Amino acid sequence: MLNKILSFLFPVTIFKQNSTVSSFIEISWNNGQLVMDSKNTNYSYGSLQRILRRGLLSIGFSNINTLDSILVMGVAGGSVIKTLVNEIEFKGKITGVEIDPEIITLANKYFNLDKIPNLTIIIEDACKFVQKSNKTFDLIIIDIFQDNTMPEFLFETVFIENTCSLLNPGGYLLFNTMIHTKSDQERNNQYKENFSSEQFTILSLPKVEVYNELFIIQKTKRDLKNASLSKH
Ligand SMILES: C[S@@+](CC[C@H](N)C(=O)[O-])C[C@H]1O[C@@H](n2cnc3c(N)ncnc32)[C@H](O)[C@@H]1O
Repeated sequence: MLNKILSFLFPVTIFKQNSTVSSFIEISWNNGQLVMDSKNTNYSYGSLQRILRRGLLSIGFSNINTLDSILVMGVAGGSVIKTLVNEIEFKGKITGVEIDPEIITLANKYFNLDKIPNLTIIIEDACKFVQKSNKTFDLIIIDIFQDNTMPEFLFETVFIENTCSLLNPGGYLLFNTMIHTKSDQERNNQYKENFSSEQFTILSLPKVEVYNELFIIQKTKRDLKNASLSKH
């Protein structure tokens, strides 16, 4: 309790551990809230949670409540999952895919992720998961970072195609990206070119909390059998 009160004056770190994926992971009290950070960025709760909440708001909370299944790739402390379960009161099935088993141990210990009954966690590289999954989803959230770096595979056609093939007709993809350089901006501009306007609707929310750009991509409900990415 003292740490929580002190955190209104300055951040109070209560746990820190090296991480092979994220350099290190830190759990701290910050302005009365428990957050998870990597070396150079906020991972869960704090600004990251606000960013994804903004994307979910854009899809519509009541709309999300009508969905059956959600896939979250990049779980960390699970703040977007808490938004879905606690704020939106989503009762359908949530699948979380996370590459780092140690981060899930921390998520369970500090953020009670294992107490969420409609959540299944799969420890796997998201790149491999989308290759072999035979389940499909109504909403797929991609929130994958290694510290403040986005792995390149996220922008490669094979990953985009595999991910879109797991999306049900009418389903949504919410992709969180970070832009720090001109080449990040070019990468994002190029990303949009992957989606043909006949088969996908794409909305971009730039400059969310300054450095993030969110993509909200909806798979059309018609022409389902032939839905694929545009070839460029
Ligand atoms: C910003 S955090 C995710 C935050 C989380 N979505 C939330 O709402 O709190 C990014 C996560 O992506 C995970 N990650 C990095 N590379 C991955 C990969 N190839 N497959 C799955 N997860 C990955 C990291 O271990 C880290 O936990």
